[in-house]
Amino acid sequence: MSKVAIVFWSGTGNTEAMAELVAEGVQSAGGEASLIQAVEFSPDELDAYDAFAFGCPAMGSEELESEEFEPMWDAVEPELSGRKVALFGSYDWADGEWMDLWRERTEAAGITVAETVIAKNYPDDEASDACRALGASLV
Ligand SMILES: Cc1cc2nc3c(=O)[nH]c(=O)nc-3n(C[C@H](O)[C@H](O)[C@H](O)COP(=O)(O)O)c2cc1C
Repeated sequence: MSKVAIVFWSGTGNTEAMAELVAEGVQSAGGEASLIQAVEFSPDELDAYDAFAFGCPAMGSEELESEEFEPMWDAVEPELSGRKVALFGSYDWADGEWMDLWRERTEAAGITVAETVIAKNYPDDEASDACRALGASLV
């Protein structure tokens, strides 16, 4: 069975809701989903999974969350090449630029980003479906 790690940071619950929807998608496609807080994840766990969905909202000024998510990401990113990776997260007042920057940075590091999903605040029906589809695509 395909094991998918859904590694996320969420301050007010919107990205967490997306993570749960991604997990639904994984399970509906017959995979096994693990929901993991960013602080609890490290590179030595990478080999335990077949695919990864990383979730972080737009923070700072179109940036990743700097206290917990970004340190984890900096540690993990150099070891993601060749693995199945998707990105997701919530935003509010801008237009999703943080996700464009995150995807560009990830691809510049030689990692293929299979898919990205963004949601304005709490995921609406369309974003919820996109999260489930992202999860299913990783199985
Ligand atoms: C400190 C801080 C910085 C933020 N920076 C941005 C930003 O640069 N662009 C944006 O569109 N939204 C920004 N937001 C809004 C959050 O991305 C939005 O509220 C999101 O839904 C939070 O997701 P969460 O519930 O998973 O924490 C910011 C929010 C906070 C608290």
